[in-house]
Amino acid sequence: MKTEISKIGVFTSGGDSPGMNAAIRAVVRTSIFYKKEVFGITQGYEGMIAGDIVKLGARSVGNIIQRGGTILKTARSKEFRTKEGRKKAFDNLQKNGINALVAIGGDGTFTGLHVFYEEFGVPSICIPGTIDNDLAGTDYTIGFDTATNTAVDAIDKIRDTAISHNRLFFIEVMGRNSGYIAINCGIAGGAVATIIPEDNMTLDELFAKLDEGGKTNKKSSLVVVAEGSKIGGAFDLAKKFSERNNYFDIKVTILGHLQRGGTPTYFDRVLASKMGVGAVEGLLNGNHSTMVGVRNNQIVFNGFETIINNRHEIDTESLRIAKILSI
Ligand code: F6P
Repeated sequence: MKTEISKIGVFTSGGDSPGMNAAIRAVVRTSIFYKKEVFGITQGYEGMIAGDIVKLGARSVGNIIQRGGTILKTARSKEFRTKEGRKKAFDNLQKNGINALVAIGGDGTFTGLHVFYEEFGVPSICIPGTIDNDLAGTDYTIGFDTATNTAVDAIDKIRDTAISHNRLFFIEVMGRNSGYIAINCGIAGGAVATIIPEDNMTLDELFAKLDEGGKTNKKSSLVVVAEGSKIGGAFDLAKKFSERNNYFDIKVTILGHLQRGGTPTYFDRVLASKMGVGAVEGLLNGNHSTMVGVRNNQIVFNGFETIINNRHEIDTESLRIAKILSI
């Protein structure tokens, strides 16, 4: 027998991303708009297991649309990977009468929810919230735009000092398995080279490119390196290049978690708002076990399995543009 959705639980999980609060706000207010009760589960699956669950109202999510981080806090839960952990989480949902879930996070979050859905059948939907922009089924994930703007702003500042001192900087940006942030920073920041896991640039090719810069009288240069680079991180590359280079003075900057914080851009706030409304409406319309996404400006739904088994490929056009413009 199908139970009507009456109480919706919302949580954020995995790495935080700017715009998650705007998504929480949209989920809470849309649920209330459709006369459903809504509960915030803190620290993702950890809070579900611990029973850390609070009822939310329209005013609970006031004054958060502009705030980075997540008011619900987040975690990567080891216990939820166990059957016992998931059973505890299910019991806590039942105790609170929660009969539907909205998760905001990345692929780890979705994988957990997929297993949970298969085991307990709680109607669930995901909203893509990660700075990496690495999820299939959506053109953009919440937080990617803000993180990339933050990184480009930092790169512009590094450029000022690089030029003043005639230096070569290796700048590492986030993206565990994905070069989305890096390739866009490379183009927008005017890098001489961008190293991403999806490309197959070799060390020799990179060094040849940098040598060429020296020969053609480049005074300073920026190399953007994605965290997931297969030929080494910014420190490794800088060390290896300094062993053969006697032209550039070399420095390294790792941008790190700086990219995860800060006020979300207008783009991320609007994206999060659209996806939050879309997720609740999707859930109520029976789009269970799916992720809401935005494709060509339209709300779309894709099954968990499609999302988990695919990735958001880097468009080859971006790679081509980056290469043409870095001569
Ligand atoms: O998935 C988002 C992300 O910021 C990645 O780009 C990065 O590799 C990872 O999270 C870092 O995770 P943590 O904050 O747990 O160190």
